Amino acid sequence: MLDMEMDKEIKLRYDEAEGHQRDRSAEPGEERALIGQEGARVRLLGQGESPPCGLRIRFAIERTNLRVVCGDIVDQIGWLHEAKFPHNFSLVYLDPPFFSNREYGSFSDAWKSLDAYLTTIRDWVRAIYPWVKDRGFFVLHCDYHASHYLKVMVDEIFGYGNFRNEWVWHYGGRRQPAIRRVNSKHDVLLVWAKTDEARFNPVFEPWERDEYVAMKRQKVHRDEDGREWIWGHQGRGRSHAYRIYLDEQVSRGRAIDSVWDIPIINTSSKERVGYPTQKPVKLLTRVIELTTNPGDWVADFAAGSGTTGVAALAQGRAAWLGDINKEAVQLTIQRLGLEAW
Ligand SMILES: C[S@@+](CC[C@H](N)C(=O)[O-])C[C@H]1O[C@@H](n2cnc3c(N)ncnc32)[C@H](O)[C@@H]1O
Repeated sequence: MLDMEMDKEIKLRYDEAEGHQRDRSAEPGEERALIGQEGARVRLLGQGESPPCGLRIRFAIERTNLRVVCGDIVDQIGWLHEAKFPHNFSLVYLDPPFFSNREYGSFSDAWKSLDAYLTTIRDWVRAIYPWVKDRGFFVLHCDYHASHYLKVMVDEIFGYGNFRNEWVWHYGGRRQPAIRRVNSKHDVLLVWAKTDEARFNPVFEPWERDEYVAMKRQKVHRDEDGREWIWGHQGRGRSHAYRIYLDEQVSRGRAIDSVWDIPIINTSSKERVGYPTQKPVKLLTRVIELTTNPGDWVADFAAGSGTTGVAALAQGRAAWLGDINKEAVQLTIQRLGLEAW
């Protein structure tokens, strides 16, 4: 179970909510402790009592560093406004349906037209925009089905000049010989900063001495203690200036580039929770590491099985996790070690 603050939990239940147990012993409006959770509180909404903002948000878990919400993206954001949510987000990661025209069982990715799809995503991104911090980032996860349209469309909201990167998540896997299209084994993460002030945290990945030497293509020297080094240069065409020690370079790691090789979660992996389109925690860990700092708020308004929450909480970030699909919200709650419905 993740180490989360246990001091404050409020569950909001609606009479129309289905699929979870109701605590019939509690009076409407009464606050009472939940069994097994120290300091936790439950509040039942009474008959006819309005939800806090009249939006179609069906269920929520609220802790100091976490919100788990079931509802449409636009309603989730309506709630942020109406409840005057006190935090803006350093990162909004959005992994929406991709316009793949598939039925996933848990959710549908079938649309009337490309226009209908783009109109929906445009509405979502417009709603999200005000909630991204000035120094924050918006990351849109998509693939070849619509990435080329989405990039232009989101430029119109965040500004062409604020587009920062296209991160390619290359997941590899089984390949078939193909003549119409070669195997497509990557997704695209499109990244916008809210303003020019936004900065990434440098991220490094491990590499070996031989990879470093092969990349530098320089003669390796040894000092009197046997440490290996190569010449560093102040700039192009300048003469030898300083020593770069190989052990320092190897222990720091190699700065990442925009293509990330991260395997997909295989069917037998412990990480797999059975939600279609579940993303690897390793992928979200990197996105969060790059774009946020401990204590920052991260939002995922189409959180599916809650991968963003797992990665965010493990790194000491706070998380808003929402999804329209109750099954997804339930999985998120279980995955985070919160009380199941
Ligand atoms: C690609 S999946 C997200 C998977 C997730 N990143 C994970 O690792 O499990 C897209 C999600 O968008 C949700 N979704 C679709 N329409 C939505 C809407 N209008 N509001 C909120 N969530 C929505 C679906 O229920 C689905 O869980």
